[in-house]
Amino acid sequence: MARFGAPEEAIELQELTWPEPSPGQVLIRVRAAGAGFPDAMMTAGKFPLLGDPPFGLGEEAAGEVVAVPAGSRFTVGDQVAGITEFLQGWGGYADYAYLREMSTIRIPAGMTDEQAGGFPIGFRTAYTGLVERAPVEAGQTLLILGAAGSSGATAIQLGKALGATVIAVAGSAEKLEFCARYGADHGVNYRTEDLTARIAEITNGRGVDLIYDPVGGETAAKAMQSLVRNGRIAVVGLASGAPVALDPMQLMLRNQTVVGVLSMPQEDPQAEAAVWQRLVDLAERGAITTPVGAVYAFDEVPRMVANQTAPGAGKSVVRVATP
Ligand SMILES: NC(=O)c1ccc[n+]([C@@H]2O[C@H](COP(=O)([O-])OP(=O)(O)OC[C@H]3O[C@@H](n4cnc5c(N)ncnc54)[C@H](OP(=O)(O)O)[C@@H]3O)[C@@H](O)[C@H]2O)c1
Repeated sequence: MARFGAPEEAIELQELTWPEPSPGQVLIRVRAAGAGFPDAMMTAGKFPLLGDPPFGLGEEAAGEVVAVPAGSRFTVGDQVAGITEFLQGWGGYADYAYLREMSTIRIPAGMTDEQAGGFPIGFRTAYTGLVERAPVEAGQTLLILGAAGSSGATAIQLGKALGATVIAVAGSAEKLEFCARYGADHGVNYRTEDLTARIAEITNGRGVDLIYDPVGGETAAKAMQSLVRNGRIAVVGLASGAPVALDPMQLMLRNQTVVGVLSMPQEDPQAEAAVWQRLVDLAERGAITTPVGAVYAFDEVPRMVANQTAPGAGKSVVRVATP
């Protein structure tokens, strides 16, 4: 990305050379790269963890390892997927990408390139939210906002794998069908239905134990009315453009908890490896699958980013190269 602005003006193709990977990185030849709303935030200069351009877009990628530093647990030729070094300016929409070794997996058998390229961020974030930060217990009711989006649809699947009852919230009947295909028990169309009334109907007036919120804004504020006493909201993102507005008095009176969720590797490499192994095991069992939505060609990246402000269902993926 050359400058902040509208995707067509901000995003340029540039010739780069990739130095040998540093310890803790692997260099891959990219075949597919996961995309999403953060690309739109980065292009607009609204991503809180990145400085000024130029930098490479693309938080996650899959492909073949072409270089590793001494002592790596990967070797040249491995087929892998992982989180890129986008925070260092090296993204996944490129011929080659650096992956953080700690956040890289060997692609499980049967996973397509598109599924592999879009696997790491959504599922690692869902794991951070639903296991590490706001653990959801079997039998609890989990409300997922933006449920047809890439954060939402991964959280549906992990929530179901953890034994929760999942209520998906999305903005169209088509998106709710998509959520049902990925395991949601119930769906609410926040554009046409009264969210509070529908949740009361679904939960027999009880409300939900946990809200997974990648959306914020009015929908999240409305959802808070359905959170049980002692309930929690996991703040994941702000696809609506604004974080959820919270009322501290209500939080106090109802003993509710707000939990920030930022997908970060654990400090202990072995603990982090165990997280990824658990996600791979779930994928191999078919319990979680990347909810691939639109697939774009490499030269369509500016159009893909522009589309993120009104995204279709699922995880957008960029096909960078064929095997
Ligand atoms: N905390 C973390 O570690 C972490 C990790 C990944 C992503 N995130 C954040 O999570 C948020 C969502 O990311 P994502 O990749 O899941 O996005 P996504 O796939 O584009 O999904 C976002 C969903 O939000 C809903 N939405 C509501 N208002 C919207 C608007 N004005 N523009 C676009 N979408 C809107 C859309 O569903 P409807 O049409 O149904 O409303 C859409 O499906 C972003 O803020 C991102 O930065 C955080």
